[in-house]
Amino acid sequence: MKRFTYLFSLTLTVFALAAVVIIGCEGPAGATGAAGADGKDGIDGVDANATCTQCHSQDTDILAKSLEADGSGHMLGGHFRYGDRTDCSICHTHEGFLDIMASGAMEASKEYEDATPPNCRTCHNVHKDYDKATDFDIRFIDPVTLWDNDVVVDLGPDNNICVSCHQPRAMEPAAPAVGGADVVFTDDSWGPHHGPQSAIVWGTAAYETVGDESYPIGGSTSHANSAGCTGCHMVEPGRGDQAGGHTLSMTYESRGTAREFTASCENCHGGDADFDYMNIQTDVTALWDSLDVILHAKNILVDGDINASTEAPLTLTADEAGAVLNLLYIDEDASFGVHNPRYVKALLKNSIQAMSN
Ligand code: HEC
Ligand code: HEC
Ligand code: HEC
Ligand code: HEC
Ligand code: HEC
Ligand code: HEC
Repeated sequence: MKRFTYLFSLTLTVFALAAVVIIGCEGPAGATGAAGADGKDGIDGVDANATCTQCHSQDTDILAKSLEADGSGHMLGGHFRYGDRTDCSICHTHEGFLDIMASGAMEASKEYEDATPPNCRTCHNVHKDYDKATDFDIRFIDPVTLWDNDVVVDLGPDNNICVSCHQPRAMEPAAPAVGGADVVFTDDSWGPHHGPQSAIVWGTAAYETVGDESYPIGGSTSHANSAGCTGCHMVEPGRGDQAGGHTLSMTYESRGTAREFTASCENCHGGDADFDYMNIQTDVTALWDSLDVILHAKNILVDGDINASTEAPLTLTADEAGAVLNLLYIDEDASFGVHNPRYVKALLKNSIQAMSN
């Protein structure tokens, strides 16, 4: 009996203690269990040896390209100050250009402060994948539909990016159609703006006056389909930071004199080819001057400007307006016929013929 009472009270005590443990405070921690399975490996951090140093090293390639680009018209021209003008920044600044390449519009979506001129990041994917094999790919390689006349220009993957900016701007009044309606001018300035080179290289957008000379089919010349832009402007080896390579420049200065960088012409036309190869610049300058004289004699131009104002508008036939347009195109193109020798000569000869009738 005593033993029963003892066992009973012991059981009670155990129950009571268990109750205290369950209801009351926790007991001391048990022994540490076995280690769990390892977690999944995290993603490796960026390894400077495999990424940054592919380009940022003792190698001077980027330095060389940077020095050359610093000597280019893009960097030295200074007109990237138009960052705050949504209709200008689209070609004059890196920021405005990327804006419209994304939106497809012809005007930037906002004004850009601290804008930059066309630079490494405009043409290459710098710091995108941190990979030398792809970061220097050209950013936009597709053919370009010209704003002015919807013609598709395809100068190849290295050159189409140049076309996007070096194309005529939309004109007001619009360029005349060949044999089309008269054009009324109420202002003395007009034309395709200062950078219509791609249209001339391709052979389009000028006024193709009907005359004795025939026009080469757009894109059919060797300058368009084998030189593009880079085959002349970025020829390697260049002349340091003065010409060729990433300077994009065709001329340089030596001992105070402007000189031609003719390496590209020599590559295709032989050792002594210069910019006046087969008299192209001499002939084009003479033809241009003749057309200029004719348009001044007709009082269509006065001191190089269109003889029109809001008070005294000027109405021109399509052929007359087209002759003015061609004069402006060839002037703004600034290659004096080299970009597309046959096209430019045909434009001038046929315009002179039409204006002399
Ligand atoms: C594919 C080549 C390449 C790789 C890889 C690369 N860079 Fe650059 N980096 C450039 C170029 C090109 C420039 C611009 C030079 C110029 O504007 O003149 C530049 C510029 C810079 C600058 C100057 C500031 C700026 O942004 O213009 C810094 C800092 C820099 N890089 C750091 C790095 C770091 C850090 C890494 C690795 C995580 C790296 N780069 C990887 C090519 C590269
Ligand atoms: C984002 C637009 C843009 C792209 C892309 C571009 N350019 Fe330009 N380029 C300009 C502008 C704007 C100027 C005038 C810069 C200034 O005066 O401030 C210019 C100036 C130049 C000049 C100097 C003109 C002079 O009178 O000194 C040359 C040459 C040139 N570009 C060639 C090229 C070539 C070749 C390519 C393609 C590899 C190219 N550009 C791509 C906008 C561009
Ligand atoms: C379709 C692209 C484009 C647009 C839009 C554009 N420009 Fe330009 N502009 C150029 C290019 C390319 C050049 C360089 C041409 C060259 O030097 O042969 C240039 C050159 C210039 C020059 C230098 C002319 C010279 O003789 O040195 C001025 C000034 C200029 N632009 C003003 C403007 C203004 C102002 C606007 C806006 C109303 C504008 N541009 C819009 C492409 C453009
Ligand atoms: C106007 C456009 C433009 C700009 C601005 C520009 N590049 Fe280029 N770059 C090109 C083109 C086009 C090529 C290809 C050249 C060719 O036809 O061989 C090229 C080639 C290169 C290459 C050789 C790539 C390879 O695959 O071998 C490097 C490196 C390079 N550029 C670096 C730079 C750096 C650094 C800058 C800025 C300082 C810069 N580029 C600015 C257009 C540009
Ligand atoms: C066949 C070679 C050749 C091709 C192709 C070529 N250019 Fe030119 N370009 C020249 C020459 C030569 C001049 C300069 C003539 C002079 O100064 O007498 C010039 C002048 C220019 C100018 C005027 C400013 C300057 O540097 O004198 C610009 C801007 C220009 N070219 C851009 C382009 C663009 C953009 C392309 C492609 C759409 C292109 N060029 C294709 C040879 C070429
Ligand atoms: C990639 C090769 C290439 C380069 C670079 C090149 N040309 Fe040409 N060029 C040709 C070919 C091929 C023709 C003739 C066929 C044609 O017109 O398509 C030609 C035609 C010409 C013509 C017209 C000749 C005629 O029959 O009336 C002139 C002028 C000319 N080039 C000048 C130049 C000048 C100046 C340069 C340098 C600034 C130059 N070319 C650079 C390939 C080139």
